[in-house]
Order: sequence, then C-alpha cells, then structure tokens
Amino acid sequence: MGPKPDFLARVAQRQTALRAMLAALIPAPAALTLEIGSGHGHFLTRYSAEFPERLCLGVDLISDRIRRAKRKVERAKLSNCHFVQAEARELIDALPAGVTFTELWVLFPDPWPKKRHHKNRLLQPAFFETIASRMGKGARVYFRTDHGEYFRTVFALFPNIQTWRLEPPAQWPLEQETVFQARAPSYHSLVAVRTSSPARPAGAAVRVPSVPTDSTSSA
Ligand SMILES: C[S@@+](CC[C@H](N)C(=O)[O-])C[C@H]1O[C@@H](n2cnc3c(N)ncnc32)[C@H](O)[C@@H]1O
Repeated sequence: MGPKPDFLARVAQRQTALRAMLAALIPAPAALTLEIGSGHGHFLTRYSAEFPERLCLGVDLISDRIRRAKRKVERAKLSNCHFVQAEARELIDALPAGVTFTELWVLFPDPWPKKRHHKNRLLQPAFFETIASRMGKGARVYFRTDHGEYFRTVFALFPNIQTWRLEPPAQWPLEQETVFQARAPSYHSLVAVRTSSPARPAGAAVRVPSVPTDSTSSA
C-alpha cells in the first residue's frame, strides 16, 4: 500500500509553501554557500562575517537550532546569511532554478551508525548526483565527521561518481569549531570538487561500491 492521499496532500502543501518562501528569500540567479545540518549556526555565521560578499544559506530540521542560528545573524547584523528549517533534499528541490552552490558544507552529519539505517545517511551517490546539477566545475563539497565508517564509505564513493573527484588534503578556507566538533575526540575531513562531467538525469542509477577497511585522514 502506498502513502495515504492526505499525507501526500500535506507534503505537496509543504513543498509549495517552501518554494514560495525560498523564491522570496533567494531570488534567482544566485550562487550560494550552502550548509546542510547547520545546527546552532556557529560555522555559517562566522563564515558569512568572514566572506561578506558571499550569500549564505543554512538548513536544519530542528526549529530550536534554526532559532538560535537566526539570533546569531541578528546579533552580528549579517545581511548575507539566512537559515531555513527544512529537510535538506526538499530545500534543494524547492530552490528556484538558477540558484546554484559554489560551496556546500556538511559538518558532522547524523551518522546513522546501525547498518540497517545507513540508507538514511545524507551523503550517498544519489545525493552527489543531485547536487551536481546545481554546482558548476570547480565547486566544492566540504565534509567532516567523527564517524570513521561513514567517512570511509563517502571517501570510497568518488572513483565511481564521474561528477566529483576528491581533492588532496589541504587547509580549509575557514576553521570554526561547531557544537559537535567540540565534543568529538577526533574527526576526518575531505573536500570533493565538481568535475566537468555533465550531471546525470534525475533518477539515473549510480553503482554503490563496497567499503574499504581503512583509508581515513584524521585531523
Ligand atoms: C550531528 S548534528 C551537527 C550539527 C552541526 N553541523 C555541528 O557540527 O554542530 C546534525 C544536524 O543535522 C540536522 N539534520 C539531520 N538530517 C537533516 C536533513 N535531512 N536535513 C536538514 N538537516 C538535517 C540535524 O537536525 C542536526 O542539527
């Protein structure tokens, strides 16, 4: 049995409202720095202050975290930084055509450690293909986690995704400790760069590789 009609109607209503709100907040064309799972907003508010010429958008599922992040924006009087409560993939889908990302930051995403929950992880081949359609050659994804197995899984994806390649380890454009980074005894970081390969059409199959036992770079 598929989802009930009233559930589908609620989802459609939510998407329509999100589309309208985003069209007003971020009119196209625009090139964004996007942070997914922005939490309390420590990273993106600092980033926006450091790079006032860049337009920044943070998204998180939890309303209290979005409220805290917005308070930081107000206190620092940042006109180039916005936070929206939404599910990240729904937000990306609802952004106006013509809104692109030059950088995408994913810092300490939920690791979903149990094997049967891995399907809930954000960083999967289909996700990299989806964002490839909004990111031009040279655009970057910055990923950091304290979960070694999640890191190795993402690291191992890249030879199989033509639209992205791993960049050799280098200093990040900004280091700002987040709430979860402060709690982590150690962590792993990677940067992926958009290649010139055309993005796949939505829904195209991507091969999922097996996970190597070890290949991490620890910070
Ligand atoms: C482990 S916390 C990390 C928060 C912050 N990046 C940090 O380092 O302190 C993960 C965050 O991602 C958010 N999140 C999880 N899944 C999400 C999704 N699908 N869309 C948007 N936000 C999501 C959670 O609500 C949570 O705030």
